[in-house]
Amino acid sequence: MNIPGKSTPEELLKIAVRIAREAAGTARRMRADGVTDVQTKSTDTDVVTAADRAVERQVVAALRAERPADGVLGEEYGDSARTAPGPVRWILDPIDGTVNYLYGLPQYAVSLAAEVDGVVVAGVVHNPATGAEWTATLGGGAWRGDRRLHGSARGTLDQALVGTGFGYDPARRAHQATVLAGLITRVRDIRRFGAASLDLCMLAEGQLDAYFEKGLSPWDHAAGGLLVTEAGLRVGGLSGRPADERMYLAAPPALFDPLHAALVELDADGGP
Ligand code: IPD
Repeated sequence: MNIPGKSTPEELLKIAVRIAREAAGTARRMRADGVTDVQTKSTDTDVVTAADRAVERQVVAALRAERPADGVLGEEYGDSARTAPGPVRWILDPIDGTVNYLYGLPQYAVSLAAEVDGVVVAGVVHNPATGAEWTATLGGGAWRGDRRLHGSARGTLDQALVGTGFGYDPARRAHQATVLAGLITRVRDIRRFGAASLDLCMLAEGQLDAYFEKGLSPWDHAAGGLLVTEAGLRVGGLSGRPADERMYLAAPPALFDPLHAALVELDADGGP
């Protein structure tokens, strides 16, 4: 597939991988130096560190230098200005799993995706703490290094290991806790690791059977979402809606419907 602006998904992925690796180096060094400059965003538990901002500035500067006509949407600074409107937009979470980063837990990631005309065509998720890296291109499969990923083949809800996450708003969390209380008796177990992009990579690997979360932002799932669809999983919202902020559900085709039915019954995309 040829993309206007002379880039194929593979070329965009190459750029993404290089820039994400450099960014991961910054995140790792800043973590080793100690995380001291911590501020809060939407609530007192929603934190942003100097590293989140430094990594985002570094990635935006690198993309600007190389591809000035591309847009960049980042978690910390939103949409960055570009020289001319082009079809490519990069979607960046400089540090997904900021709370884990703050506590020195090795479950955080740089997540960078390239979207062309609104469709994600390339993505990389890089864990700076472990060096693990996952990549995908549209139609080119999901990969961890040279190993192609196919997700889980599980089809029964009561045997499913289901990942999820929580928002930062206490009212939303209360609703999410009610949903979990209704779901946990119907599944093998629940996991909450704290970095949605890595949860989606684990799903692509088959280390989780399914995943759902209300309230994800585009930067949380842009790269990881391509990983899971390229691994053969189904992604959607509830009751025919697309996967979006209201609900992001990803599961193997045979598991999607039973999990979807349980989440609809529990009003998982309702509440605040
Ligand atoms: C958060 C993580 C977490 C998810 C939250 C996200 P951040 O991103 O991905 O797992 O449950 O919804 O906001 O704040 O660490 O970049």
